[in-house]
Amino acid sequence: MIALILIGGLGTRLRPFTCRTPKPLLPLLNKPFLQYQFDLLKAHGIRETVLCTSYRAEDFRKLDPKMTGVRLRFIHEKSPLGTGGAVKNAEGLLRGGEPVLIMNGDILHALDIRGFLKSHQNRRAEVSIALTRVKDPTLYGLVQTDESGRITRFLEKPSWDEIESNTINAGAYIFEPQVLELMPAGIPYSLERALFPKLLEDGRHVFGFVSQGYWMDIGTLESYLQVHLDILGGKTPFAPRAASRKTGLLLEKGVKLGRELTLGSNGDRVLVGRGTVIGDFARFSGNVCIGSQCRIGKGALLSECVVLEGTIIGDGARLERCLVGPGCRIGAQAVITQKTALAGGSSVEPFSHL
Ligand code: GDD
Ligand code: MG
Repeated sequence: MIALILIGGLGTRLRPFTCRTPKPLLPLLNKPFLQYQFDLLKAHGIRETVLCTSYRAEDFRKLDPKMTGVRLRFIHEKSPLGTGGAVKNAEGLLRGGEPVLIMNGDILHALDIRGFLKSHQNRRAEVSIALTRVKDPTLYGLVQTDESGRITRFLEKPSWDEIESNTINAGAYIFEPQVLELMPAGIPYSLERALFPKLLEDGRHVFGFVSQGYWMDIGTLESYLQVHLDILGGKTPFAPRAASRKTGLLLEKGVKLGRELTLGSNGDRVLVGRGTVIGDFARFSGNVCIGSQCRIGKGALLSECVVLEGTIIGDGARLERCLVGPGCRIGAQAVITQKTALAGGSSVEPFSHL
């Protein structure tokens, strides 16, 4: 089976980080997010991918198939065609007669792809949609099913008074090839707002597959931070890579650690990227991710935060539950508090409070 990955969105909810890097290439624990999807595909025997690009398409050309472990083919939309338009645009690259796996390119999902395909085939579905349960369905595509798993309603971004379940579209589908013939070519078209409601209206065989595995859309600042904390906290089956481990520390190559570091409570972990230098008496609390080639000053305190590559943090600075972009300079004793998202290259003067 070929996997088609939708990666053309602007990633507006993840600005400022997506101003210079498309969302699927943002680092997650110091490796490009898409690599987690490639690893999942490989684990289920899928090695052929088609990447549907639009925003910052040239950035994806840097992906090296030797590193990704999957074959990469690209299909570009000059102006974004929406999720459905992107799928239709890729039709010529798919294998005739075979179902295709389609995935949003911003979801960390421990999806049982083999189970998903089996369910699709057993039910003779034309389209199968992976489903997950969330607390707030208004941010997603609401899906209702009957007892047999057949989908009876699909409503993108419903309002609270339209919600009758907490089951949503998890952003992974299996399509039979004939479904692509129902979609218009060359114009913007939405799977969620046009194709799925139309299929249901026409009584086509659309089934849900409830996934029990970890699921997170990384597309907001809050969820991008949370997914780091979840992986480090062992809440997912995705393991951070590290060249060596000490209690509470996962170290990539070439890390230099200062003396008398303080770590958080039992089970908290700090991932330190390649070549990063940590000053004496630095303190950590909760799970923390530090990118490569960073410098963390003496006595700095980092609590539940993500610091991207090449950032320099001054002595005694304090970071709490925040995201710091690549190549930032944070002055000594500066305090960066909850929910701050500092754009790459920012400079924060000593003693500032953000
Ligand atoms: N190629 C291409 N072209 N890709 C696109 C385009 C486009 O015009 N528009 C969006 N995408 C890609 C995005 O890059 C992303 O990977 C995926 O399609 C979904 O777009 P989002 O903008 O992240 O959508 P969402 O998160 O609001 O909602 C979608 O995902 C939810 C699950 O997280 C919908 O599919 C919902 O129904 C679903 O519940
Ligand atoms: Mg999304």
